Amino acid sequence: MSFTILGTGKAVPEYVLTNDELSTMVDTNDEWIRTRTGIGERHICKHETITELCVKAARQALENAGTAPEELDLIICSTMRGENITPSQGCVIQKELGASCPAFDVNAACSGFIYALDIAAGYFERKRVRRALIVSMDNLSNIIDWTDRSTCVLFGDGGAAAVLGEGDDLLSIHLTASGNDEAIRIPHGTNSSPFYEHEEERAVLHMAGNEVYKFATAAMANGIRRAVEEAGLSQSDVNLVIPHQANIRIINTAAKNLEIPRERFFCNVEHYGNTSSGSVAIALDEANRSGVLKAGDIVAMCAFGGGLTTGSCVLRWSKKA
Ligand code: ACO
Repeated sequence: MSFTILGTGKAVPEYVLTNDELSTMVDTNDEWIRTRTGIGERHICKHETITELCVKAARQALENAGTAPEELDLIICSTMRGENITPSQGCVIQKELGASCPAFDVNAACSGFIYALDIAAGYFERKRVRRALIVSMDNLSNIIDWTDRSTCVLFGDGGAAAVLGEGDDLLSIHLTASGNDEAIRIPHGTNSSPFYEHEEERAVLHMAGNEVYKFATAAMANGIRRAVEEAGLSQSDVNLVIPHQANIRIINTAAKNLEIPRERFFCNVEHYGNTSSGSVAIALDEANRSGVLKAGDIVAMCAFGGGLTTGSCVLRWSKKA
């Protein structure tokens, strides 16, 4: 037994930061950002906290799944940085929902949603849970260097949630990690110990864009290819691909290297930018709610990010509209 997805929900901040507004902050322009990345705007937290967004997405997903918080047996939050170091963001969500089940966080950067699905699959396999909630949420705007035009144009805040129930819809899942702290790194930034001898670094994102780009294009095509093979399917069986929404050029290149028609790739990067762990989860929720996903569809999802990590999976979509 693996699981079935019973419902999804999403939450993004209200404030929309356009490319034109960004162009007043750093030396960039709408044309460069659109042609190099496909991004037109992103949502940025002003008054919202990450907890408020997590709880909003979770409540929507529970409602969509017809599940009460008391029925949850497990909560996993994938995030790079929750509200606190402890309690975990999972425990904060649990408190706000009034649930009473084990809860914890997983950090696999942008691959976090797929990592969380794989962890949850193990709980279902061992028959430890009947209902699990996954919330994938990141708030990258507070760890971006807003003076660095090569990174600040790429990211946005937000995320989504999914409620899982018993079922056999996960057909394959494959995770990778290759320890690399040069391509993408976000240091903690502070150390309050008077004894610590190392210099403090600013807690901002550092990225070797070109290196990540090369890694990502290969990882996305290889990840989807492998997950489809392990599911015992051929690429033509895939009705919808939900790729990590980092850069439309990465998605286009991956599509060219696969035998899945480009129109089957779900894309919303134009409106959100890269929301890290939230990215694939937001796209899944939009595909669910817009009716793009039909019961019986075969869905491939693939993400990559800091670590460097990747996660790819194939599942059957059973939820009826
Ligand atoms: N506006 C205008 N010009 C810019 C900007 C900008 N925002 N940013 C960079 N440039 C300039 C550069 O300075 C450079 O100028 P030069 O030729 O005079 O030196 C030129 O544009 C080209 O820069 P490149 O870095 O070569 O641009 P490229 O086409 O490679 O695109 C990008 C850069 C968009 C970052 C791309 O490499 C990319 O998408 N990488 C992958 C990022 C990613 O997917 N990260 C996901 C993981 S993140 C995580 O896990 C948290």
